[in-house]
Amino acid sequence: MRNHTMVTEFILLGIPETKGLETVLFFLFSSLYLCTLLGNVLILTAILSSSRLHTPMYFFLGNLSMFDLGFSSTTIPKMLLYLSGQSQAISFQGCASQLFFYHFLGSIECFLYTVMAYDRFVAICHPLRYKVIMNHRVCSVLTSGTWMGGCVHAIILTSLTFQLPYCGSNEVGYYFCDIPAVLTLACGDTSLAQRVGFTNVGLLSLICLFLIFVSYIHIGISISKIRSAEGRQRAFSTCSAHITAILCAYGPVIIIYLQPNPSPVLGATIQILNNLVTPMLNPLIYSLRNKDVKSALRNIFSKRSFTLEN
Ligand SMILES: *[C@@H]1O[C@H](CO)[C@@H](O)[C@H](O)[C@H]1NC(C)=O
Repeated sequence: MRNHTMVTEFILLGIPETKGLETVLFFLFSSLYLCTLLGNVLILTAILSSSRLHTPMYFFLGNLSMFDLGFSSTTIPKMLLYLSGQSQAISFQGCASQLFFYHFLGSIECFLYTVMAYDRFVAICHPLRYKVIMNHRVCSVLTSGTWMGGCVHAIILTSLTFQLPYCGSNEVGYYFCDIPAVLTLACGDTSLAQRVGFTNVGLLSLICLFLIFVSYIHIGISISKIRSAEGRQRAFSTCSAHITAILCAYGPVIIIYLQPNPSPVLGATIQILNNLVTPMLNPLIYSLRNKDVKSALRNIFSKRSFTLEN
């Protein structure tokens, strides 16, 4: 149509209004990222190596750790690279895959929290039938369902965003390629992509949050009926870990949506918390309060475990 050249690479301008803070942010984010990697690798090792942890709850937790690793790795390493002074450019394909994996892994996590809430609901409200209901096949179906759901969701968002022509400016005013930041650069009509993106992400989080909420209401009612204080305590402690994790994951997102005109800095801060701090907290939240995980980790680090287990 016009003699504009098509964009072949994008420039990530970084977190809004943080010029001059690159070194501080680099050290802050790289230490947080290291903690995320370390914590999740430890949890994965503990779960995979200890046969006592081969139960549905830990399978889901293992999957969550795996996706946490991937989720923070879609955005953070690239950001660390350009904070350390390397190139801010990202190829067109790189940008598209960043957007795809961000929404793919993000929605899988959202589904996994829901599945984990359902798992706790069955464990606490139907303890005698737990083994029958959460059998191996059901667990596999649930996990592969989260994969497929996430894949469809991400394919829709990515194809809608990148079927538009990009021919003008290539400067993404953000620290990674997310839909709103990329769409402002499109030359075509962005209203469909914008509307679908907003509705899909919003609906998905609302549905998950609603299902999680329903599960925990049932759980709460069940717990309040347990007579022994010790039993109540035990049921409560597993669930409080999950509720904390969910609040960390959703709290920030809800805050963004409640703001009528979120400032770019607030939006970016919250998204960084979500990309970096939630994946780092998940292993802490689940393992610090959990005797089984702690003893599995202790076993890994003591030589004795080799002679005992092999
Ligand atoms: C993820 O879930 C599946 C099905 O429940 C399980 O077989 C697999 O071991 C889990 N992956 C990890 C890393 O825990």
